[in-house]
Formats: sequence, structure tokens, C-alpha cells
Amino acid sequence: MTEQTLDALIRTDEPLITALSNAAAFLYHSLPNINWCGFYLFDGEKLVLGPFGGKPACTVIPMGRGVCGAAAEERKTIRVADVNAFAGHIACDPASRSEIVVPLILSDGRLFGVLDVDAPVTDRFTEKDEKDLSGATTVLVSKIEAIMNHTGSGLGLPNF
Ligand code: SME
Repeated sequence: MTEQTLDALIRTDEPLITALSNAAAFLYHSLPNINWCGFYLFDGEKLVLGPFGGKPACTVIPMGRGVCGAAAEERKTIRVADVNAFAGHIACDPASRSEIVVPLILSDGRLFGVLDVDAPVTDRFTEKDEKDLSGATTVLVSKIEAIMNHTGSGLGLPNF
């Protein structure tokens, strides 16, 4: 369901920022019981805040820092049942209690960024959520690659 909706929602002839914005908004509103959902994008050195739904968040996350930085560095999904028990968790919003971070790896092996989903309750994310979000990121990665082939890796706007 999520995968089909994302597939229908994202056009590959429109800018990357457009695609990621609608993807973040759709996921934010379709997942129950969450307080933040969005992207951190890899700039070649660190993660920078991308499109999201939720409250304003930390803008820069060094590789290896917090759940996002760990998932990006290890290139694997990290599911945290209780953020207070995760050493180095970055509390952008003190209301967050659990989270899942899924890395977005392009088919040539490059790290594009991560999808970060936070919840205001402990133990919010199940194995099924992990599977669903991994399916969603697979669709996203193929859209991102198609957009990059079409418009390049910039924002896709004429002056940027
Ligand atoms: N939860 C993250 C930081 C980002 S915000 O929560 C939006 C982390 O510890 O990696």
C-alpha cells in the first residue's frame, strides 16, 4: 500500500526536493503514532536536514552520531525501542521515545541519506514496520535514481 502510493505520488520528471517533500509528508501522515518523519541527506561528509513532517529539527548530524549517524555509518536499519537507552541519541524533540532509521543506499553503493521516523511512545516500531519502511525506501531509491538521471543531483530547479 505504502509502496504503491509512493510510486504513484512521485514523478521522476520533477525536482528531487519535490519528490522528497511529498514522500516525507505522505509518510508522516500515513504512519500512526509518530511525531516526526523525514530525511537527512548525506553531503559527502555529514548528514544535513532534508524534507520532513513534524517540528523543526537539528540541521546537521555528524556521521556516527545519534541513531541517524549510526545507521548512516553502518549502512543498516536501526530500530530503537527506547531512545533514552541509546548512547548518543540526539534529542531534537524531547517528546521522542522510540525511533527507526533506514539508510538510503543508491545502486552504485553511494549513501544518499537516511529516512528517520520518531515516535512519542516507547517501542513503537515493530519488525513489520521495519519491513514496510524498507519496502518504501526501495521505491524511494529507484525514484531518486530516476530523478537524478533526469535532472541531476541538485535541487532540479533552473537556478539551483
Ligand atoms: N533522532 C535522531 C536525531 C534527529 S531528530 O530526532 C529529528 C538521532 O538521534 O539520530
